[in-house]
Amino acid sequence: MAERLKWWQKTVVCEIYMRSFNDTDGDGIGDLNGVTQKLDYLKKLGVGAIWLTPCCKSPQADNGYDVADYCAIDEMFGSMADMDRLIEEARRRGIRIVMDLVFNHTSDQHPWFLESSSSRDNDKSDWYIWRDAKPDGSAPTNWRGIFGGSAWTWCEARGQYYLHTFLKEQPDLNWANPKVRRALFDAAQFWVDKGVGGFRLDAITYIRKPAFSDAAPDAGDGLSAIHPVTANTPGILDYLHEFKAAVLDGTDLFTVGEANGVSAAELPEWVGRDGVFDMVFEFSHVLIDLENEADWSSARPWQLKDLKRILRDSQENTAADGWYAIFFENHDMPRCVDHFFPDTADQDSAARIIATLMMTLRGTPFLYQGQELGLHNVVWDDISAYNDVSTRNHYAFLIEEGHSEEEAMHAVHRFSRDSARTPMPWHAGESAGFTDGTPWLPVNPDYPVRNAAAEEQDPDSVLCWYRALAAIRSKHAVFTEGGFEEILQEHSQIYAYIRRTKDAEAIILTNWSEEEASYDPALIEGAALLISTEGIKNQRGRLAPLEAVIYLR
Ligand code: GLC
Repeated sequence: MAERLKWWQKTVVCEIYMRSFNDTDGDGIGDLNGVTQKLDYLKKLGVGAIWLTPCCKSPQADNGYDVADYCAIDEMFGSMADMDRLIEEARRRGIRIVMDLVFNHTSDQHPWFLESSSSRDNDKSDWYIWRDAKPDGSAPTNWRGIFGGSAWTWCEARGQYYLHTFLKEQPDLNWANPKVRRALFDAAQFWVDKGVGGFRLDAITYIRKPAFSDAAPDAGDGLSAIHPVTANTPGILDYLHEFKAAVLDGTDLFTVGEANGVSAAELPEWVGRDGVFDMVFEFSHVLIDLENEADWSSARPWQLKDLKRILRDSQENTAADGWYAIFFENHDMPRCVDHFFPDTADQDSAARIIATLMMTLRGTPFLYQGQELGLHNVVWDDISAYNDVSTRNHYAFLIEEGHSEEEAMHAVHRFSRDSARTPMPWHAGESAGFTDGTPWLPVNPDYPVRNAAAEEQDPDSVLCWYRALAAIRSKHAVFTEGGFEEILQEHSQIYAYIRRTKDAEAIILTNWSEEEASYDPALIEGAALLISTEGIKNQRGRLAPLEAVIYLR
């Protein structure tokens, strides 16, 4: 590869869910000092950047994704001095901090919204999306918000409705107003000046609104999901080019956009040389098991060949020009072992297969806290045990649509965001070592066996496999610089590909089935075994059930 890679192309990013990582003040909620305390743990995982979920001032209607001040730390997570210390301590270890910019909406408690909603004529009257009611007094359109219910809420003081793609506590900003864009860019600049290493742009594909008209109802409530209407509408890239020029040009920060609604085919214009971001999270592979992401009853079966096709598309569409963000789980989705291997008994081996893809596909790995331990979904019997507002709303929607309680709970167990939000299990002691107090969300009950301290001691653990792969990835340039070529495309058990530079080839083979699998050993002729989940038991031309192996030549 002619061009030199940038620092963020050669590193591993770890997403930290602030509330659940590590609590140092006993309030049962994670904090910034808790992250600082665990920097060495992250360093050992090869992590060079930490994406913190929102820690700015927030009423927490959506656990921080409802920001009331972009330039202040919420007391629950600590102080600005704690943040400065985290940035500095991380920097000393070669780790950069990445902030989550929630720029599609603010909290309804943000001073901008308080002012905007106070009357029709104030300085910020058009900072949000205000519309008159329909002649019959109902909402301006029949759009259903992503978390359920109408996407419009009535405001008495203005006698108008405001739009919220998510909760009513998360009013959408009006990006068409240049003053709004300026204010947001200034907030981003505040963090650039603090010395952060990059930004994740939350829900960024929703910022440009289309014409306001009804869409055909898609469920018994007469509403129509907002996502297909407002995500990634024409002209959105103009706003984002402006953001890039104002805040990022000339810096070495990276950006990753949460790009729900962007297809693999569209990746080049988002992340190509002239794209708006360095990377985006593109969701096709994680939506493989849902027909309609707004409806958890639309689960669909899938096969390895479907996943291969999706990954091939995103790898190929970022091959010539662009870069891919590799992820298999985050704070909005189930744990990846349950997600991608729901019927596999040996879940640790399943976790190691995903680890292998994470560290060897072409792109930057975005690891989510606890994924490196092979953590699992939680299965709580009662919906009242769930904290996440979207889980509760999805559940209510399913019941409303006539599904039984059992069916609705089955969907919750499968798709709830809380599964990935349980506190990090650090050791087998009280509250898994996460807190001295009462954790805000219960710890996964398997913590006495599945925790960081236990896995550190066990060379066969998922954690040690991740560490080994991260070390391999940073040692051999082929994993970062090499091109991607899929092999054994028609094989029903094996997912395999070659990473290639002019000097080296790495051949990655993973067996997704619980049966032994075979392939033509000529594929690895002249290559030496680099690592295998079977260790020296690895046989050329054969893969043990759920084996992952890498050869190098
Ligand atoms: C993004 C976040 C999610 C949040 C939503 C609204 O999808 O990842 O957690 O609820 O945006 O901000």
